[in-house]
Amino acid sequence: MPDRLSTLLANVEDDLRAAWRTEGSPVPFDEWKTERRARERADEEARVQAEIRAERRSRLLERLDAQIPPRYRSARVTDPRIASWCDTAHEGRGESLLILGPVGVGKSYEAFGAMRHLVGRHIRNAVVVVAADLYAALRPRAGVDTEAEFERYAHAQLLLVDDIGAAKSSEWTEEINYRLVNFRYNHELPTVFTSNTPPRELGTVVGQRVASRLTEMCTVVVLDGQDRRRAA
Ligand SMILES: Nc1ncnc2c1ncn2[C@@H]1O[C@H](COP(=O)(O)OP(=O)(O)O)[C@@H](O)[C@H]1O
Ligand SMILES: [Mg+2]
Repeated sequence: MPDRLSTLLANVEDDLRAAWRTEGSPVPFDEWKTERRARERADEEARVQAEIRAERRSRLLERLDAQIPPRYRSARVTDPRIASWCDTAHEGRGESLLILGPVGVGKSYEAFGAMRHLVGRHIRNAVVVVAADLYAALRPRAGVDTEAEFERYAHAQLLLVDDIGAAKSSEWTEEINYRLVNFRYNHELPTVFTSNTPPRELGTVVGQRVASRLTEMCTVVVLDGQDRRRAA
C-alpha cells in the first residue's frame, strides 16, 4: 500500500523536522538528519555489543559456577588487596595470587570470588580445583589418561588451586606440585593459590623449589581475623 507508506514516511520526516527546529541546530536539516541517523545506528550497535558481552559473560560464569562448590557460588571479593590484584591480573603476564591465612578466615571465599570476577571479563577458560582433589584426579590408574588431565589444569588460562599444602604430602604430591607450579611459572599463566601454611613454613610444606617459584610469581595476601566457621 504505497499511500500509507508515503504518509508514514512523511510523518517521520515532519517529526524529524520538528525535532531539528526545537534543537535550533545551525546545521542544515539534511545534514542534521544524516548525523542523527549515524548516531542512532552507533548507539544501537553499542547496545547490541553490550548485550553480546553480557550474554557471553553469563555463559562463561555458568560454566565456571558448575565447577564451584555450592557454598562459594555467590562468593565475591571483599578484600581490597585481592580486588586490586583482580584489576591488574590481566595486565602484563603471569602475575599470580597466593592467599595465606589460618583456617576459616575466608581464603577460599575470596579465591572463588576472584575467579568469578575475572571470568567473562578477561578470562574465558578458568579451571578450579582443591589440591587434594587434584592429586586424586592425577593418580595413575588403568584406563585414565592422567597426563591429559594434568594438561587440562596446567594449560588453563586461569587456574585456582585451593588449599595447596593441606593434604598429607608425599614425594609424589610434591612432584605434582612442582610440575604444575613450574609449568604455570614458565608460561606466565595467572594462578590463584590458597594455603593455610604460615608464610615461614611454606618451604617445608610444599618444598623449596615450589615455595621459591610461588614467592616470585605471586602477589601474597595474608588474611587474618576470626575463624568465620566458629563465629557462625
Ligand atoms: N567475605 C565473606 N562474606 C561472607 N561469608 C564469608 C566471607 N568470607 C568467608 N565467608 C564464609 O565463611 C566460611 C569460611 O570461609 P572459607 O573461605 O571457607 O575459609 P578458609 O578457606 O580460609 O578456610 C565459609 O562458609 C564462607 O562462605
Ligand atoms: Mg578453604
